[in-house]
Amino acid sequence: MMSLHARLVRSVCAAVRNGRYLHNSPLRSGAGGALFVHRDTPDNNPETPFDFTSENYKRIEAIVGDYPEGHKAAAVIPVLDLAQRQNGWLPISAMNKVAEVLQMPPMRVYEVATFYTMFNRQPVGKYHIQICTTTPCMLRDSDSILEAIQKKLGIKVGETTPDKMFTLVEVECLGACVNAPMVQINDNYYEDLLPSDIENIIDDLKAGKVPEPGPRNGRFSCEPSGGLTSLIEPPKGPGFGVRADL
Ligand code: FES
Repeated sequence: MMSLHARLVRSVCAAVRNGRYLHNSPLRSGAGGALFVHRDTPDNNPETPFDFTSENYKRIEAIVGDYPEGHKAAAVIPVLDLAQRQNGWLPISAMNKVAEVLQMPPMRVYEVATFYTMFNRQPVGKYHIQICTTTPCMLRDSDSILEAIQKKLGIKVGETTPDKMFTLVEVECLGACVNAPMVQINDNYYEDLLPSDIENIIDDLKAGKVPEPGPRNGRFSCEPSGGLTSLIEPPKGPGFGVRADL
């Protein structure tokens, strides 16, 4: 059986052969390839219209209420997320609005929005495909999934299909390594993928269906794929092994 090291070396060599080097993953802050700095454009500048809906103002009130008095800024991530969900992406005017609502310097908001890949500072397609290519996924051949997506959609990492339906970005570990290889599409995880699985998922999305999220290899969740190896007996009742007179 091939050792872990040998598999890693083989995967890295394959990536290099395919023209993908570990050091040249595009800089991104959401829609792949975006710079970490902001440059005003006609569609993304401080004058770009954005305001929360009255329903979302109520949500903000509830979110802020989860944090101690005087610590509104702690709500910056959920409130940025709300702005993104309302608008589809985060123009600088939305970040400025978040700063205003949370009474914090805009720069503090920019720092957060540029750090996390979950925030899209450029418009993304209706379906935002984030493929993980970090080591565990790479060892489970995430390259073949990436290739299948690129071929199926005719786009490269960081691009959006001309019909604005799909955006593809490459991200670091999404925390589902035990179900590698995997992708996140909008809020759903699709795991234990083969190239044919991702092709079917894309077909479903194109047909307007939302495919069932989760593993594609028959697993319920992240249990061992060969069956349970521990904790295989029914749980003992409370008090098991305790002295009878207690
Ligand atoms: S390495 Fe892909 S989910 Fe962790």
